[in-house]
Amino acid sequence: MKKPLVIANWKMNLDLKDRLQLAQKYHTELGRLKKVEVVICPSFLSLVSVGQAVKASNLKIGAQDVFWEETGAYTGEESPELLRDLDCQYVILGHSERRQHLGETNEMVNKKAIACLDNDLTPIICVGETLADRQLNETYNVVFSQLDQALANLDMVNTDQLVIAYEPVWAIGTGQVANPDLVEPVLELIEQVLVDHFPLTIVKNNVRLVYGGSVDAENVGQFSQLDLVNGFLVGGASLDIAEFKKIVKQLY
Ligand code: PGA
Repeated sequence: MKKPLVIANWKMNLDLKDRLQLAQKYHTELGRLKKVEVVICPSFLSLVSVGQAVKASNLKIGAQDVFWEETGAYTGEESPELLRDLDCQYVILGHSERRQHLGETNEMVNKKAIACLDNDLTPIICVGETLADRQLNETYNVVFSQLDQALANLDMVNTDQLVIAYEPVWAIGTGQVANPDLVEPVLELIEQVLVDHFPLTIVKNNVRLVYGGSVDAENVGQFSQLDLVNGFLVGGASLDIAEFKKIVKQLY
Protein backbone atom coordinates (compact mmCIF):
# COMPACT_ATOMS: atom_id res chain seq x y z
CA MET A 1 0.00 0.00 0.00
CA LYS A 2 1.36 3.41 -0.97
CA LYS A 3 1.66 6.00 1.77
CA PRO A 4 -1.66 7.90 1.89
CA LEU A 5 -1.54 11.44 0.58
CA VAL A 6 -3.90 14.18 1.74
CA ILE A 7 -3.83 17.49 -0.10
CA ALA A 8 -5.34 20.55 1.56
CA ASN A 9 -6.58 22.89 -1.17
CA TRP A 10 -7.16 26.20 0.59
CA LYS A 11 -8.23 27.84 -2.69
CA MET A 12 -8.66 31.66 -2.40
CA ASN A 13 -9.96 31.45 1.16
CA LEU A 14 -8.88 33.35 4.30
CA ASP A 15 -6.86 36.55 4.66
CA LEU A 16 -3.09 36.53 5.01
CA LYS A 17 -3.14 36.47 8.80
CA ASP A 18 -5.65 33.63 9.01
CA ARG A 19 -3.70 31.56 6.49
CA LEU A 20 -0.59 31.91 8.61
CA GLN A 21 -2.49 30.97 11.76
CA LEU A 22 -4.00 27.95 10.07
CA ALA A 23 -0.53 26.88 8.90
CA GLN A 24 0.71 27.13 12.48
CA LYS A 25 -2.18 24.91 13.61
CA TYR A 26 -1.30 22.36 10.92
CA HIS A 27 2.27 22.42 12.20
CA THR A 28 1.21 21.82 15.79
CA GLU A 29 -1.40 19.16 15.06
CA LEU A 30 0.06 17.28 12.10
CA GLY A 31 3.69 18.39 11.77
CA ARG A 32 5.22 15.21 13.16
CA LEU A 33 2.99 12.80 11.29
CA LYS A 34 4.90 10.20 9.27
CA LYS A 35 2.25 7.71 8.23
CA VAL A 36 0.32 10.12 6.01
CA GLU A 37 1.81 12.68 3.66
CA VAL A 38 0.04 16.01 4.11
CA VAL A 39 0.42 18.73 1.49
CA ILE A 40 -0.84 22.27 2.05
CA CYS A 41 -1.73 24.28 -1.05
CA PRO A 42 -2.23 27.96 -0.25
CA SER A 43 -2.49 30.65 -2.93
CA PHE A 44 0.72 32.04 -4.47
CA LEU A 45 0.64 35.00 -2.13
CA SER A 46 0.89 32.82 0.97
CA LEU A 47 3.39 30.24 -0.25
CA VAL A 48 6.28 31.97 1.52
CA SER A 49 4.63 32.57 4.90
CA VAL A 50 2.94 29.16 5.02
CA GLY A 51 6.14 27.49 3.85
CA GLN A 52 8.08 29.13 6.66
CA ALA A 53 5.44 28.25 9.24
CA VAL A 54 5.70 24.53 8.47
CA LYS A 55 9.38 24.42 7.58
CA ALA A 56 10.65 22.30 10.46
CA SER A 57 7.95 19.64 10.03
CA ASN A 58 6.91 16.73 7.83
CA LEU A 59 4.28 18.85 6.09
CA LYS A 60 4.78 19.60 2.40
CA ILE A 61 3.81 22.63 0.36
CA GLY A 62 2.09 22.80 -3.01
CA ALA A 63 0.90 25.54 -5.34
CA GLN A 64 -2.57 25.83 -6.85
CA ASP A 65 -1.24 26.56 -10.34
CA VAL A 66 1.93 27.28 -12.33
CA PHE A 67 2.89 28.56 -15.79
CA TRP A 68 4.86 26.42 -18.23
CA GLU A 69 7.55 28.91 -19.24
CA GLU A 70 10.71 29.57 -17.23
CA THR A 71 10.69 33.35 -17.27
CA GLY A 72 9.59 36.28 -19.40
CA ALA A 73 6.67 38.46 -20.41
CA TYR A 74 3.81 36.43 -18.92
CA THR A 75 1.85 38.90 -16.84
CA GLY A 76 0.26 37.41 -13.77
CA GLU A 77 2.00 34.05 -14.00
CA GLU A 78 4.63 32.26 -11.89
CA SER A 79 7.29 29.82 -13.06
CA PRO A 80 8.07 26.27 -11.96
CA GLU A 81 11.62 27.31 -10.96
CA LEU A 82 10.29 29.94 -8.64
CA LEU A 83 7.98 27.42 -6.96
CA ARG A 84 10.91 25.04 -6.54
CA ASP A 85 12.95 27.83 -4.98
CA LEU A 86 10.19 28.23 -2.41
CA ASP A 87 10.46 24.52 -1.54
CA CYS A 88 7.16 23.68 -3.18
CA GLN A 89 6.96 20.02 -4.08
CA TYR A 90 3.48 19.75 -5.60
CA VAL A 91 1.32 21.75 -8.01
CA ILE A 92 -2.43 21.35 -8.55
CA LEU A 93 -3.21 21.43 -12.28
CA GLY A 94 -6.50 21.60 -14.17
CA HIS A 95 -8.70 22.06 -11.12
CA SER A 96 -12.32 22.26 -12.27
CA GLU A 97 -12.60 25.80 -10.91
CA ARG A 98 -9.74 26.89 -13.16
CA ARG A 99 -11.22 25.00 -16.10
CA GLN A 100 -14.57 26.67 -15.48
CA HIS A 101 -13.60 30.24 -14.58
CA LEU A 102 -10.22 30.70 -16.25
CA GLY A 103 -10.49 28.64 -19.39
CA GLU A 104 -7.80 26.13 -18.47
CA THR A 105 -7.71 23.51 -21.22
CA ASN A 106 -6.33 19.98 -21.38
CA GLU A 107 -3.53 21.29 -23.58
CA MET A 108 -2.55 23.86 -20.96
CA VAL A 109 -2.65 21.20 -18.25
CA ASN A 110 -0.35 19.08 -20.41
CA LYS A 111 2.21 21.89 -20.87
CA LYS A 112 2.13 22.64 -17.16
CA ALA A 113 2.55 18.97 -16.24
CA ILE A 114 5.61 18.67 -18.50
CA ALA A 115 7.09 21.85 -16.98
CA CYS A 116 6.48 20.51 -13.47
CA LEU A 117 8.28 17.23 -14.09
CA ASP A 118 11.16 19.11 -15.74
CA ASN A 119 11.54 21.04 -12.49
CA ASP A 120 11.15 18.24 -9.95
CA LEU A 121 7.63 19.29 -9.03
CA THR A 122 4.91 16.66 -8.68
CA PRO A 123 1.84 17.51 -10.75
CA ILE A 124 -1.56 16.84 -9.21
CA ILE A 125 -3.68 16.55 -12.34
CA CYS A 126 -7.39 17.03 -11.64
CA VAL A 127 -10.01 15.35 -13.80
CA GLY A 128 -13.75 14.96 -13.41
CA GLU A 129 -17.11 15.22 -15.13
CA THR A 130 -19.79 17.85 -14.66
CA LEU A 131 -23.34 16.94 -13.72
CA ALA A 132 -24.40 17.47 -17.34
CA ASP A 133 -21.64 15.11 -18.52
CA ARG A 134 -22.84 12.46 -16.10
CA GLN A 135 -26.48 12.86 -17.09
CA LEU A 136 -25.50 12.50 -20.74
CA ASN A 137 -23.51 9.34 -19.95
CA GLU A 138 -20.34 11.14 -20.96
CA THR A 139 -18.38 10.61 -17.73
CA TYR A 140 -15.94 8.09 -19.15
CA ASN A 141 -15.38 9.99 -22.39
CA VAL A 142 -14.73 13.25 -20.53
CA VAL A 143 -12.37 11.77 -17.95
CA PHE A 144 -10.59 9.75 -20.62
CA SER A 145 -9.93 12.74 -22.86
CA GLN A 146 -8.94 15.02 -19.97
CA LEU A 147 -6.35 12.54 -18.78
CA ASP A 148 -5.21 11.25 -22.16
CA GLN A 149 -4.50 14.80 -23.34
CA ALA A 150 -2.94 15.87 -20.05
CA LEU A 151 -0.46 12.99 -20.26
CA ALA A 152 0.52 13.44 -23.92
CA ASN A 153 4.32 13.30 -24.34
CA LEU A 154 4.80 13.21 -20.60
CA ASP A 155 7.92 11.17 -19.96
CA MET A 156 8.27 9.87 -16.45
CA VAL A 157 11.56 8.59 -15.12
CA ASN A 158 12.07 6.71 -11.89
CA THR A 159 12.56 9.81 -9.78
CA ASP A 160 9.34 11.46 -11.02
CA GLN A 161 6.08 11.35 -9.12
CA LEU A 162 2.57 12.02 -10.38
CA VAL A 163 -0.80 12.38 -8.68
CA ILE A 164 -4.15 12.11 -10.44
CA ALA A 165 -7.12 13.57 -8.58
CA TYR A 166 -10.53 12.35 -9.60
CA GLU A 167 -13.07 14.97 -8.56
CA PRO A 168 -16.61 14.81 -9.93
CA VAL A 169 -17.33 18.51 -10.50
CA TRP A 170 -20.87 18.19 -9.13
CA ALA A 171 -19.45 16.96 -5.80
CA ILE A 172 -16.94 19.80 -5.32
CA GLY A 173 -17.92 22.27 -2.63
CA THR A 174 -21.56 21.22 -2.87
CA GLY A 175 -21.86 18.81 0.03
CA GLN A 176 -23.19 16.33 -2.52
CA VAL A 177 -21.28 13.14 -1.79
CA ALA A 178 -20.65 10.74 -4.64
CA ASN A 179 -21.51 7.09 -4.20
CA PRO A 180 -18.26 5.08 -4.03
CA ASP A 181 -19.85 2.65 -6.52
CA LEU A 182 -19.82 5.47 -9.07
CA VAL A 183 -16.26 6.45 -8.22
CA GLU A 184 -14.62 3.04 -8.50
CA PRO A 185 -15.15 2.43 -12.24
CA VAL A 186 -13.83 5.91 -13.04
CA LEU A 187 -10.69 5.17 -11.04
CA GLU A 188 -10.33 1.93 -12.98
CA LEU A 189 -10.56 3.88 -16.22
CA ILE A 190 -7.93 6.32 -14.93
CA GLU A 191 -5.61 3.45 -14.10
CA GLN A 192 -6.10 2.03 -17.58
CA VAL A 193 -5.18 5.37 -19.18
CA LEU A 194 -2.08 5.50 -16.98
CA VAL A 195 -1.07 2.00 -18.05
CA ASP A 196 -1.52 3.03 -21.68
CA HIS A 197 0.89 5.94 -21.16
CA PHE A 198 3.55 4.63 -18.78
CA PRO A 199 5.39 1.40 -17.95
CA LEU A 200 3.59 -0.68 -15.32
CA THR A 201 6.35 -0.22 -12.74
CA ILE A 202 6.02 3.56 -12.99
CA VAL A 203 2.23 3.37 -12.59
CA LYS A 204 2.61 1.08 -9.59
CA ASN A 205 5.42 2.92 -7.82
CA ASN A 206 5.30 6.56 -8.91
CA VAL A 207 1.65 7.43 -9.48
CA ARG A 208 -1.00 7.93 -6.82
CA LEU A 209 -4.74 8.35 -7.30
CA VAL A 210 -6.64 10.60 -4.94
CA TYR A 211 -10.31 11.36 -4.64
CA GLY A 212 -11.92 14.74 -4.04
CA GLY A 213 -15.35 16.31 -3.76
CA SER A 214 -16.91 17.32 -0.43
CA VAL A 215 -14.67 14.90 1.45
CA ASP A 216 -15.05 15.24 5.22
CA ALA A 217 -14.45 13.22 8.38
CA GLU A 218 -17.83 11.55 8.04
CA ASN A 219 -17.58 10.27 4.47
CA VAL A 220 -13.83 9.72 4.03
CA GLY A 221 -14.07 6.13 5.25
CA GLN A 222 -16.33 5.12 2.35
CA PHE A 223 -13.70 6.22 -0.15
CA SER A 224 -10.57 5.08 1.64
CA GLN A 225 -11.90 1.54 1.37
CA LEU A 226 -11.62 1.65 -2.40
CA ASP A 227 -8.51 -0.23 -3.51
CA LEU A 228 -7.41 2.38 -6.01
CA VAL A 229 -7.70 5.36 -3.66
CA ASN A 230 -4.32 6.47 -2.24
CA GLY A 231 -5.53 9.66 -0.65
CA PHE A 232 -7.69 12.76 -0.91
CA LEU A 233 -7.89 16.29 -2.24
CA VAL A 234 -9.78 18.24 0.38
CA GLY A 235 -11.15 21.76 -0.05
CA GLY A 236 -13.69 23.08 2.46
CA ALA A 237 -12.82 20.64 5.25
CA SER A 238 -9.12 21.58 5.05
CA LEU A 239 -9.90 25.05 6.44
CA ASP A 240 -10.92 23.57 9.77
CA ILE A 241 -7.95 21.92 11.47
CA ALA A 242 -10.09 19.75 13.77
CA GLU A 243 -12.10 18.36 10.84
CA PHE A 244 -9.01 17.95 8.68
CA LYS A 245 -7.18 16.09 11.43
CA LYS A 246 -10.11 13.72 11.79
CA ILE A 247 -9.90 12.95 8.07
CA VAL A 248 -6.16 12.30 8.22
CA LYS A 249 -6.43 10.12 11.33
CA GLN A 250 -8.71 7.71 9.56
CA LEU A 251 -6.01 6.87 7.07
CA TYR A 252 -3.55 5.19 9.41
P1 PGA B 1 -14.27 20.42 -1.55
O1 PGA B 1 -13.17 20.84 -2.63
O2 PGA B 1 -13.61 19.45 -0.61
O3 PGA B 1 -14.66 21.71 -0.86
O4 PGA B 1 -15.40 19.81 -2.31
C1 PGA B 1 -12.32 19.88 -3.19
C2 PGA B 1 -11.51 20.52 -4.28
O5 PGA B 1 -11.99 21.45 -4.93
O6 PGA B 1 -10.38 20.14 -4.51
